[in-house]
Amino acid sequence: MKWSVGLPGRDMISLDLTLNGDEIQTANLKGIGCTQLLDLLVEWRPKLKGPLENVPLPQANDHSSLLLRELLLQAQNKWTPPYTEQELCHCRAIPTERVNNAIISGCHTPLSVSKKTSASTACGTCRPDVQKQIQYFLETSKKSA
Ligand code: FES
Repeated sequence: MKWSVGLPGRDMISLDLTLNGDEIQTANLKGIGCTQLLDLLVEWRPKLKGPLENVPLPQANDHSSLLLRELLLQAQNKWTPPYTEQELCHCRAIPTERVNNAIISGCHTPLSVSKKTSASTACGTCRPDVQKQIQYFLETSKKSA
């Protein structure tokens, strides 16, 4: 099975696993992007063994760790962000993916997401969803492993 995540035009990582039940038989973790991301992949490859359930998650909130955490949680079938509809901010027609990419890129407050994407800059009713999304990317997903 194969999963991939990335920031458009910046970083891309993929994981190709062969499993026997939940036991990892072969793992191919690769990516393109910055040195920090490539170093993280080198650090994580030896950890891809044993039960998939037990593979540790990166705990930092830099963009490389956020991408790898999302990838591993997808592989573990535990990636369940609170907001999954295609468009998050209806006033400004901002896609959820654009908000997610802003969070991964370092916008970790609703205000910084607004500045980067224009989400929540009209009626503001989407702001709680932006906040929940930020919280999930930064905290909740770490605990679900
Ligand atoms: S729905 Fe986002 S500002 Fe109104």
